[in-house]
Amino acid sequence: MDLNRIFTRRRKWLAGIATACMLLVVSFQNCSAVGSASSSKSAKLSSENDILGAQALEILSAKCLTCHNPDKPEGGISDITDLNFLLYYRLVIPGQPEISDVIRVIKEGSMPPGGGVSVSDLAALNRWILEGLIDDSGNVAIPDGSATLEPRYSSIKTRIINTKCLGCHSGANLSGGVDLTTYATTVANNIARAGNPGGSRLVTSMERTGNDFMPRNGARIPASDIAIVRQWIQDGAQNN
Ligand code: HEC
Ligand code: HEC
Repeated sequence: MDLNRIFTRRRKWLAGIATACMLLVVSFQNCSAVGSASSSKSAKLSSENDILGAQALEILSAKCLTCHNPDKPEGGISDITDLNFLLYYRLVIPGQPEISDVIRVIKEGSMPPGGGVSVSDLAALNRWILEGLIDDSGNVAIPDGSATLEPRYSSIKTRIINTKCLGCHSGANLSGGVDLTTYATTVANNIARAGNPGGSRLVTSMERTGNDFMPRNGARIPASDIAIVRQWIQDGAQNN
C-alpha cells in the first residue's frame, strides 16, 4: 500500500523526536513565512532565486508529477510539486541537496524509473535546494502554482485539500475521524456546513490560533485562501 510509506516516514520521525523537532522548527519557521509570501507572490519572475524556484517546479512537474500526484501517490508521495509536502517528509532539505531524497533518487538513477533527468536539470534542482529554497523576499519559495484559488469545491479540493490535508485525512489515516477524500465526506459531520463557515470545522481547524491549527505541523494556509473557503461555504458549499 503506497500510503504505508508516508506512515512509516511519520513513525520514523516521531521516533527521532529530538532531532526531528529541531529540524522541524527550523523548516516550519521558514514555511510559516511562506503563506504570506505566496499570497502576494506575483507571477513575475524578477530574480535568480525566483527563476530557480520556477525552474525546479517545471522539472519536477515534467519528470515526476505523473506518478507523484494525489490520484497516483507512488511511494506515498502525493504531490511532488508541493514544497510544504516535500519539506515535511524531508524530501528536500534546505541548503542540503546531498541528503535530500529528491536529489538522491535522481542521482541513483532510480527516479524517474528508467532515468531521464538531464545533467543540467539535476544541477538546477541541486542549486535550488543548495540556495535554501529561498525566494526574493527571503522566504522559502513555494514554486508558483499558477491557477488561482476559487470559491468552488473543485478548486479548493485541488489547491488545498489534496496537497495540504489528504496525507492525514484519507485512506487508512483518518486523523481525528476526519475524512476529506470526497465531496460527500467533506460536507458531512459539520466539516463544511452550508451557509455557516464559522461553524465549519474545515474553517475553524485552519483558523485556530496557537500551534494546533490544520494542516498539523505544516505552514498556515494564508488568510486570503481561507477567506475563499469561507465564501464557498457561505454560498452553500456546493459540489461545483
Ligand atoms: C513512472 C512513475 C514514476 C515517475 C515518473 C517518478 N517516480 Fe518516484 N516513485 C515511483 C514509484 C513506483 C515509487 C515507489 C517505489 C518504492 O517505494 O521503492 C517511487 C518512489 C519515489 C521516492 C521514494 C523512494 C525512495 O527511494 O526514497 C522518491 C523520493 C521519488 N519517487 C522521487 C521521484 C522524483 C524526484 C521523480 C522525478 C525526478 C520521480 N520520483 C518520478 C514512480 C515514479
Ligand atoms: C500531518 C497530519 C495532518 C495534516 C496534514 C492535516 N491534519 Fe487535520 N488532523 C490531524 C490530526 C492528528 C487530527 C486529530 C487530532 C487533533 O485534532 O489534534 C486532525 C484533526 C482535524 C480536524 C478535526 C479536529 C479539528 O481540529 O477541528 C479537522 C477538521 C482537520 N483535521 C482538518 C484538516 C484540514 C482542513 C487540513 C488541511 C488544510 C488538515 N487537517 C491537515 C492531522 C493532520
